[in-house]
Amino acid sequence: MPVGEPRVAVVTGGATGIGAALAQRLAGKGWTCVLLGRREEPLRRLADEIGGEYEVCDVADREAVDRVAASLQERHPAVTLLVNNAGIPGRSDFLDVDPERAEQLIRVNYLGSLWCARAFLPALEAARNAKVVNIVSVAGTVAIGPYSASKHAQLALSRSLAVELRPRGIRVLTVNPGLVHTEGFPQEHLSDSAFGSLVVGPDFVADRILRALGRGRTEIFVPAWYRPAAWVQALAPGAVARLRGRSTPP
Ligand SMILES: NC(=O)c1ccc[n+]([C@@H]2O[C@H](COP(=O)([O-])OP(=O)(O)OC[C@H]3O[C@@H](n4cnc5c(N)ncnc54)[C@H](OP(=O)(O)O)[C@@H]3O)[C@@H](O)[C@H]2O)c1
Repeated sequence: MPVGEPRVAVVTGGATGIGAALAQRLAGKGWTCVLLGRREEPLRRLADEIGGEYEVCDVADREAVDRVAASLQERHPAVTLLVNNAGIPGRSDFLDVDPERAEQLIRVNYLGSLWCARAFLPALEAARNAKVVNIVSVAGTVAIGPYSASKHAQLALSRSLAVELRPRGIRVLTVNPGLVHTEGFPQEHLSDSAFGSLVVGPDFVADRILRALGRGRTEIFVPAWYRPAAWVQALAPGAVARLRGRSTPP
């Protein structure tokens, strides 16, 4: 980053969890963070705390995203970092998922990242060495229901964008977290089980993201030992299906 160039980051879902932890760290390093989300109160609270800005915006609403990106570009002609982090959970199987929720998962977790990447492209191109970080999931690499399907789509988007944006001078980092204890994805129920040790906090993920950005990485798993889950799914899908079949009641 050339000295003197303002560093502006747009963080979707930036008021809580992983997005908030990342925004706090970026602000501590002198970045101006613009937080996007649907609920104004938590956005305003964190923006005040870190000396940042916020925009109420549903990333699933393409026109709203376009509007916010256009108005933001008047204030900040160049955006150095876009973090596509907004996401919703969906703990259910395909056969029992509420149809509305199945659609919403795709609109928020996948299409939200696409609409933001497209809308903020002019501002990203106006910055030098701009980066896009897509917060995907280990669930994007393993077949476990409608949430996982939305994350598979977002993963394909993120990997494709890495290729499409590189000639434009924009690098993409794909982040695949495992279990992270946050507001939308509470993991307390695992604390007394064998899976409890698999859970990390949002600060841990934010630190790994900043380290990966510093090292110019293109894709990370957080923690790194989740990566073999993706290999097993790719190399032995039958074994994964048998394992899931055993853990799911008939
Ligand atoms: N926690 C985990 O175990 C885990 C694991 C792997 C991946 N991830 C991914 O990490 C990302 C961040 O999640 P988190 O764990 O930090 O949970 P979180 O604290 O619930 O954060 C999600 C954020 O997204 C915002 N959001 C949700 N829908 C939105 C929409 N339509 N438009 C704009 N903002 C929206 C929420 O704010 P509003 O409700 O105010 O809009 C919230 O601030 C998500 O993409 C999630 O899928 C999480």
